[in-house]
Parts: sequence; C-alpha cells; structure tokens
Amino acid sequence: MLSGFLLMYLTQLHLRTFRNYQEQLVNFSGQKTIILGNNAQGKSNLLEAVELLATLKSHRVSKDRELVTEDAETGQILATVNRKYGTSHLGLILRTTGRRTVMLNNEPLRRHLDFLGVLNAVEFSSLDLDLVRGAPETRRNWIDTLLLQLEPIYLRILQDYNQVLRQRNALLKEIRHREEKGADNLGDYLEQLSLWDTQLAQTGSRVTRRRARVLTRLAPLAQKWHESISGKKETLMINYLPNVEWTSDDPASVQKAFIDRIATRRIAEYQLATSVVGPHRDDISLVIDDTPAKSYGSQGQQRTLVLSLKLAELQLLEEVIGEPPLLLLDDVLAELDLERQNQLLNAIEDRFQTLITATHLNAFDGAWLKSSQIFTVERGKIEAR
Ligand SMILES: Nc1ncnc2c1ncn2[C@@H]1O[C@H](COP(=O)(O)OP(=O)(O)OP(=O)(O)O)[C@@H](O)[C@H]1O
Ligand SMILES: [Mg+2]
Repeated sequence: MLSGFLLMYLTQLHLRTFRNYQEQLVNFSGQKTIILGNNAQGKSNLLEAVELLATLKSHRVSKDRELVTEDAETGQILATVNRKYGTSHLGLILRTTGRRTVMLNNEPLRRHLDFLGVLNAVEFSSLDLDLVRGAPETRRNWIDTLLLQLEPIYLRILQDYNQVLRQRNALLKEIRHREEKGADNLGDYLEQLSLWDTQLAQTGSRVTRRRARVLTRLAPLAQKWHESISGKKETLMINYLPNVEWTSDDPASVQKAFIDRIATRRIAEYQLATSVVGPHRDDISLVIDDTPAKSYGSQGQQRTLVLSLKLAELQLLEEVIGEPPLLLLDDVLAELDLERQNQLLNAIEDRFQTLITATHLNAFDGAWLKSSQIFTVERGKIEAR
C-alpha cells in the first residue's frame, strides 16, 4: 500500500506509560488509518501523542503530569518518520515533574526547537470549534502552534517573550507593593521598568510580526477553502487584531509602536500591576459576510469555518515544508454533514497520511474504507482489525 510515494510518513509509533497506554507499538502500513473504538478507550490519546511529536504541545492539557500514565513517573513517545531526505527516530520523554527530554536519532537534543520540523501534523478535533467560540487565548495558541511548525525558531521567540513578560509583571507587582507600603524612593525600580519596556518591545515585536506574516499567508488559503465548501455563498475574513497596532513591518518602527503604547497605558499598568501591552493580548477576528463568526448562529457554519482554517493550515505547511504534513482527524467526520465530509475527503485524496478516529464506521464511504488500515482500540490496547 505504501510503496512508491515519497511523503512525510510516520511508520511506527511506540508508546510507553503514556496516558492509558502501558506499552503499545503501532505500525502504520497505509496512507489512511482509521482508529476505531468506543468512548474513553484511547483514540484521542493516540492522536495526542502524534501531535506532541509535531508541536511539543498538546491542545488538550498544559501539564505533562496528565500525559504520564497514572502511577508512573515517566511516559515515552517514540516514533519513526520517513522523509524525502531519510528516516528519523524521534523520542520524547515526559515526566510528572514537567522536565522533558527530546531525542533525535537516539541523541538527546539540547535545543527543543531542533526537534520541531521532523514530523509535521495538523490536528482537527471537535475541540477546535473553540477557535470560533472560545477566548482569544485559544486563537493565539492556534496560530502560535502553526508558527512553531512553520518556523521552529518561533519556539525561542515565544519563550523569550514570555520570560520578559513574567519578569516585567513581577516588577510591576513589586512597585505596587512598595507604593502601598508608602515607599518614596522608587527611582531604581522605575529605571528597571524602563529597561523591561525595551525588552518587551524587542521580544514582543518579533512575536507580533511573525503572527501578522503567517496570517497574511493563511487568510487567502482559508478564504478559498471556505468559498468552495460553502459554495461561494459566504465570504470569510480573517483579521489580525494585534494589541499593539503597527503599520510598517520593520523592527525599529514596530518596537517604537510598543514603546508609545506602553507610555499611554502606564497608569493602567500601575493600577493593575500587570503588563497590559503586548501580544499576550492579541486576538484574531473571524468574520463571515461582515458578521463575527462567533455570533453567527449555525454550528454548521462554524464547522465549515474551522474546516477551512484547518485545510488552509495543511496547505500552507505543505507549501513551506515541501512535503505534505500528517492530518489528524479526531472525531470530526461524524460531526460534518455528508457534503462537507466529501469536501474533506476529496481534499485529502491521497495527498496526506491521515489518522482518523471514529466510534463507528458508518460515516466512511466504501472506497475510503477499502483503502484504509483499520485499528481497534480498547482500554489502551490497539489491534489490527
Ligand atoms: N494519565 C493517564 N493515566 C491513565 N489513564 C488516562 C490518563 N489520561 C487519560 N486516561 C484515560 O484515557 C481514557 C480517555 O482516552 P481518550 O481521550 O483517548 O478517549 P477516546 O477513545 O478518544 O474517547 P472519546 O470517544 O470519548 O473521545 C480515559 O479512560 C482516561 O481515564
Ligand atoms: Mg476522543
């Protein structure tokens, strides 16, 4: 089934005390794999393992403690990936303490960003409706996760920014604390704060410029998909809403926009004792025919929107990386009507290695079933069907 095509291919996955898997080896032999099982058996957990290899993040949880099997101290995800340029072995060791080890070809990597980019994947799950309905944080996480895969250096950029943000917030709290105690010589602290303003502007401008750039590339692709899925009936607009607005995409002028904005928000920052300026307050607006998608009634329309975003991600990753990423579909087929299911299946064709979970096979068409490898999962055990 596999012979003859050159694409990014996950051939083997090996889970050890990861979620509800004690010890599980999975060999992928077809381009499409259906993972079939009842609720709470481990379908999403399996896709989550692949997502972690691709992004070093899980969109379900933020603490590694939850990923490690209860009563165990470490969990492991091992994988073999074939690419145009050869075969790579990935290893991710998760600990309840939160410290991670990432390995490439059995060598631990000092920089986690070197792990990113070996395996690429786009996940589409029912949780993704939160992209439309949820808080801005959900949309920021979404675009950040895509950026991590497109340009792994973004991992460093984001970490630097978050570190500056934490330290600056701590300083603002300290200043407030001292003010409350009636201290009058705050000079040193205010001087320190101005250094952190510069840092925030430097690191924050990198984040916002990259987010703007990726959205500029993603928007037309999503728009095309949306047109085609909705039958040209609706127009989708994706707008970046940066907390600090800037126009000219050069570092110095974006940084200046940060400094100016910080100056105008100084009093609010003192009052709230936290940073109110910066990309941690960005949002992305999704608008269908001039109406915010959030307030658009129909769930079907929201699903169409999310499906368009995901297909656009897939396409952009393929363009940038030069090989088709994996597609992870968690429980979404059953949620789409027949027409949209077909849109999705046609878009995938044979172009992407696809892992798809389902509780039953009714939703699949015959040709799809015939060309798929089918696994069943029951209480953390996977078997070929
Ligand atoms: N750290 C952990 N240790 C042990 N078991 C865990 C851990 N985390 C999750 N589980 C178990 O994994 C199961 C859920 O697995 P998963 O989310 O993959 O289900 P699913 O097959 O996708 O189900 P659904 O169809 O409802 O989406 C639950 O039984 C849960 O108790
Ligand atoms: Mg699930």
